[in-house]
Amino acid sequence: VNDDPPLAAPTPSGIFVRAARHEDAAEITRLSTLLGYPDGVAELGKRLSLLLDRPADAVFVAQGETTLAGWIHVAEEVHVVSERRCDILGLVVDEHARGRGIGRALVRAGEAWARERGLTRVVVRSNVARTGSHPFYERLAYRRIKTQHVYDKGL
Ligand SMILES: CC(C)(COP(=O)(O)OP(=O)(O)OC[C@H]1O[C@@H](n2cnc3c(N)ncnc32)[C@H](O)[C@@H]1OP(=O)(O)O)[C@@H](O)C(=O)NCCC(=O)NCCS
Repeated sequence: VNDDPPLAAPTPSGIFVRAARHEDAAEITRLSTLLGYPDGVAELGKRLSLLLDRPADAVFVAQGETTLAGWIHVAEEVHVVSERRCDILGLVVDEHARGRGIGRALVRAGEAWARERGLTRVVVRSNVARTGSHPFYERLAYRRIKTQHVYDKGL
């Protein structure tokens, strides 16, 4: 049951996009394992709570009848050398729900959120290994502008 108004037109499958809530943590955790992040619901739930309190971040979910079919995390980025923009920081659609317009609806919700904040550009970094996401973003009119190495260091 859900009383939140849908943020985007329903997808053909009747699934609609709404803002995420704390109670979505378990379903978002389940979907995140598909992305290769096998976190526990407790850890993910804490981070979700943090994000839901941050005005410069937004998480949207695709609500199905009983389960979630996907989620997206977008955030406003401010860098010294470039204009304020929106980054897509995470996106996944449940395996059996792909190819039905749900990914597009989630990206559209993120773009609408960014537009409302006055942002005029969206950037997404997609791992070369996520081969399905490349034609997907291109279909949604995203252009590939560079290829990078990513470094990290434990502290
Ligand atoms: C990428 C992903 C989010 C796409 O979600 P989806 O719900 O299947 O995508 P949609 O059904 O909304 O597709 C929108 C358009 O992209 C196209 N598209 C989607 N996946 C595609 C693929 N693998 N190859 C070619 N085209 C694809 C669709 O055909 C559709 O085109 P259309 O306008 O002609 O109908 C989903 O496959 C996924 O979760 N992948 C694993 C995680 C991932 O890669 N996330 C991105 C991290 S940056």
